Amino acid sequence: CSAAGAEQVSVPGGAAGLGSLLGGPASPSPDLVFATCRYPEKAQELQQLSKQYSNIKLLQLDVVCESSIKKVVKEVEEIVGDKGLNCLINNAGINVLASLEEVTAETMLTIYETNTVAQLMVTKAFLPLLRRAAQLGTGMGCHRAAIINMSSLAASMQLVQANEMFLKVYPYRIAKTALNMITRCLAADLKSDGILCISLHPGWLQTDMGGNMVSANGNVTVGLLSVPTSACCDTQNYIPLHSRTF
Ligand SMILES: NC(=O)c1ccc[n+]([C@@H]2O[C@H](COP(=O)([O-])OP(=O)(O)OC[C@H]3O[C@@H](n4cnc5c(N)ncnc54)[C@H](OP(=O)(O)O)[C@@H]3O)[C@@H](O)[C@H]2O)c1
Repeated sequence: CSAAGAEQVSVPGGAAGLGSLLGGPASPSPDLVFATCRYPEKAQELQQLSKQYSNIKLLQLDVVCESSIKKVVKEVEEIVGDKGLNCLINNAGINVLASLEEVTAETMLTIYETNTVAQLMVTKAFLPLLRRAAQLGTGMGCHRAAIINMSSLAASMQLVQANEMFLKVYPYRIAKTALNMITRCLAADLKSDGILCISLHPGWLQTDMGGNMVSANGNVTVGLLSVPTSACCDTQNYIPLHSRTF
């Protein structure tokens, strides 16, 4: 078991960017990590990692496809059995530049489907496995059972005016704000099951989505995964960012 304390972790959208870091060796090492992606045959970095580390399992998942979700849950269940799943990291996400002038109904719906609806559907599908793990543990955190939704500073209601660049991503920031509400609803619904539900902003990272204007990703995964293990996690609160809540 690791600093994160989780034993079985699933990371949808693990092929690239933050997902591949979360599944990779720089992150605290759970007993098992299921790194899922749409096209495993193309995910060379993950293929390499799963060859190198026997605790990283590479599975196929398209988060907007119901049959794909059902299939991956079955595959994970066959491996984890009675232990269940300790941590689900809903990392998959897409973005597109769309200012007020540019935004269309079609881009709104596409981004909402992947960044919001899919996260809820994936979570629902994994719930039996998360509940199974929660029944075996105590306390709150990914050592027991946790759902981590990858949110964004762009979704902050309080900081709407803070970053002009976010004005160019209407669909993304609205979808992520709705994702935050999903987290709040899940937290209220699943508190009695002992399942921690949180939204996290990972910081601005050098990835396909984040671009290369930031210098380095540093030890972001260790920092991110230490948050849900913190004993003070309250399922109803947002995590403070630079002393501000959002
Ligand atoms: N980078 C940042 O600065 C930043 C800041 C705040 C929040 N975030 C959030 O952090 C998360 C990871 O972002 P990132 O920067 O790592 O972005 P990224 O490099 O673009 O990676 C996004 C991942 O999501 C996957 N994905 C997209 N649609 C999918 C689908 N239908 N089914 C399965 N996987 C799908 C992509 O898979 P494919 O390779 O198959 O496309 C890719 O692996 C996102 O939720 C993002 O909104 C990022």
